[in-house]
Amino acid sequence: MAKTRAVLVKDGRGPSDALYIGEVDKPTAKEGEVIVKVVAFGLNRADIHVRQSGGAGKALGYEFSGTVHELGAGVSGFDIGQAVLGLTSQGAYAEYVAAPVGNLLLKPQGLSWVEAAAIMENWLTAFQGLVLICDIQKGSDVLIHGGASGVSVAATQLARLYGASKVFTTVSSEDKVQFVKSLRGGATHAINYRTHDFVEEIKRETEGKGVSIIVDYIGQDYFKRNIDTLGIDGHLLILGLLSGFGFPSDASLLPLVFKRLNVHGSSLSTRSVEYQAALVARFKREVLDHFTPNEPGGVPLLQLKIWKVYPWQEVKEAHDAMEANKNQGKIILESSRIVWICLLSCISSLSSVDL
Ligand SMILES: NC(=O)c1ccc[n+]([C@@H]2O[C@H](COP(=O)([O-])OP(=O)(O)OC[C@H]3O[C@@H](n4cnc5c(N)ncnc54)[C@H](OP(=O)(O)O)[C@@H]3O)[C@@H](O)[C@H]2O)c1
Repeated sequence: MAKTRAVLVKDGRGPSDALYIGEVDKPTAKEGEVIVKVVAFGLNRADIHVRQSGGAGKALGYEFSGTVHELGAGVSGFDIGQAVLGLTSQGAYAEYVAAPVGNLLLKPQGLSWVEAAAIMENWLTAFQGLVLICDIQKGSDVLIHGGASGVSVAATQLARLYGASKVFTTVSSEDKVQFVKSLRGGATHAINYRTHDFVEEIKRETEGKGVSIIVDYIGQDYFKRNIDTLGIDGHLLILGLLSGFGFPSDASLLPLVFKRLNVHGSSLSTRSVEYQAALVARFKREVLDHFTPNEPGGVPLLQLKIWKVYPWQEVKEAHDAMEANKNQGKIILESSRIVWICLLSCISSLSSVDL
């Protein structure tokens, strides 16, 4: 079996020190799959959970950009060598990754490899949550926690794109307040949760009505306050449980009935291949074009905010930064070896041009 390199976790689980670049079997394309030669891949909070809990079993990582390397049986719509971005169930921290063909998109011209690697996990999660699950409507007021996180940067801009009126977001510092306010089409209200009570702020700003949608990753510690902040027929979408898994002892079920609330949990990675393909196809129709300007010299409606790019040899430092909640936007890793190969292939194609 041919070998390739990937980021692995020593003994299957552990702290960031346990991350290393090792050898794995090079993936081969099964029916309906494409093998992509990875140029850049995104870091997501879930990678940290998987590293700590030992759930991976192989290389970490959900999202990537790169070039099509091999097509499995029954695959159409892509050719070898095309630049793509994609989503997989595991294994993107690698030189080669396998993904279902429905989870790939052609890389829009004008996006860098790094930008392209920042789209699939965060933006599909936010798109699925706001549009498919919570049915966002023009004029909705929305609260998005963890405002500077990769998913929230996407959710904030998508909420505005789909016509939200007020978009509140919570963050832990003044720096992050400035960051979320600086986004084009970003939050209308940024609340530092260390110095302000988001329940009171939102009640005041919505004249007591509350918001119609809350996107939450905090879980236990925010459950009661989220319920208090929702208006009639509101939707609470729980995508993560950063503060704990338990049902808070101070929460009451009463408002769920009287305010007719909807509480949703969702996990993108556990959705079926068919569901993910349909989601990717709808995202392509409704959102993808907004990452690039619609006229020369223009500015795109949606901003990909890259906080930092690391070479993949520094994957430990990248995990440490996210674990310490330092990032404002997305962390991306690139393989310098692959970048070097791309550079060499560019030079060789230039040298074949008749000048
Ligand atoms: N269910 C799904 O399908 C799905 C898919 C993708 C991601 N997710 C989840 O979405 C969340 C965001 O992911 P990401 O990759 O964008 O993460 P990220 O960039 O690491 O951001 C997470 C942010 O949450 C805030 N935070 C962390 N612990 C907190 C706590 N105990 N209380 C309050 N705030 C806390 C921090 O911001 P502050 O410094 O401002 O507090 C942190 O920067 C994660 O929980 C992830 O697991 C779920």
